[in-house]
Amino acid sequence: MAGADLVIDNLAQVAWPAGSGAPLRAGAMRETVVVRDAAIAVRDGKVAAVGPRAEVAAGSAGLDVLDAGRRAAVPGLVDCHTHPAFGGDRVDEFSLRARGASYEELHAAGGGILSTVRATRAAGEEGIRRAVERHRGWMLRQGTTTWEGKSGYGLDRDTELASLRAIRAAGGVATWLGAHAIPPEVGDADAYLDFMLADVLPEASAIAEAADVFLEEGAFDAARARRYLEACRAAGLELRLHGDQFTESGAVPLAIDLGARSVDHLEATGPEGVRALAASDVTAVLLPASALFLDRPMPPARALADAGAAVALATDFNPGSAFCESLPLVCSLAATQLGLSPAEALVACTVNAAHVLGRASTVGRLGPGYAADVVLLDVPDWRYLAYHLAGEVVHTVIVGGNPTRLR
Ligand code: NIG
Ligand code: FE
Repeated sequence: MAGADLVIDNLAQVAWPAGSGAPLRAGAMRETVVVRDAAIAVRDGKVAAVGPRAEVAAGSAGLDVLDAGRRAAVPGLVDCHTHPAFGGDRVDEFSLRARGASYEELHAAGGGILSTVRATRAAGEEGIRRAVERHRGWMLRQGTTTWEGKSGYGLDRDTELASLRAIRAAGGVATWLGAHAIPPEVGDADAYLDFMLADVLPEASAIAEAADVFLEEGAFDAARARRYLEACRAAGLELRLHGDQFTESGAVPLAIDLGARSVDHLEATGPEGVRALAASDVTAVLLPASALFLDRPMPPARALADAGAAVALATDFNPGSAFCESLPLVCSLAATQLGLSPAEALVACTVNAAHVLGRASTVGRLGPGYAADVVLLDVPDWRYLAYHLAGEVVHTVIVGGNPTRLR
């Protein structure tokens, strides 16, 4: 869609993270710009002016008007960690887990990720494309306007590449999670990496922006993760890691050593990992919906934020460990389970998440020049984003100035 021209008028308030740089850390995560009785002028899909209504009106004569009806607005949300390219579901497994089976047991028994691999391969390119489109629609309805999507349920050449293409085609930022699990038809992790790096990386690196690895007991150890990530970096990809989800197995030092964009999960990270991340340029991406869904401990969010780490929040949307596409719900979990304030949560799923995706200069704030990606909340105060637990807070989602009304 072409960038639109319009004025979003009659806003009770507009809120976005203060400052201009990224990522925001420590005290800077708590500062929010709040303009009351506001309007946003949009030209060519970008914010041309934002401020008190009278000021914006002076420069926006002749523009179409979208009456916000005294609602509050925040920047379009940024989901920097999702797994939307999958076939089938894991509702049987979910039911077993509800009765006490553990996620790791199901994984070790050939269920878990590998059951989704079977369903994703069976879906084929067209099925994967439809699934990603559907999941992208779900995200949009929750206010997500910029999103990352990972492959990782193909684990073979054709399905991994089809997944990456589907994510790009749907407007997502593609990450190649070629090292998610070891598929049963391949003898061992080393043989699998030999194949992936020789036969898939050359094409994957032309579609994806980043590579990701599941560094965990039962998945890839630190030495193999290093091998995979170094090869991906040499092919021009940014680096991400799934780390410290169940055990501290070296993901944090590896991420820092390799200059990764982020290390994600961190439910098992202890004080040394917190200190190391705070002193680094690696963003800590926290996924509280995954911890909740698996009934695991929450990551040490407060300690990370207080120590000065760059903290982002994401859904981890996937069929097994986090069947949840709602960043507003993640903000509520951040406020109720992670000890983050609504202001910190807003930073974590806008500016800091955009930083992880290398897009902090264009999305995540609402100053002049940023993309006119705006969420109109069906409430008068932006903090309802975290406050209304699983509420229908999103009224209209505007992407590049083009509005989609939801209620
Ligand atoms: O981020 N932990 C590894 N990967 C995903 C879950 C994948 C799945 O269970 O299908 C995650 O939690
Ligand atoms: Fe994940």
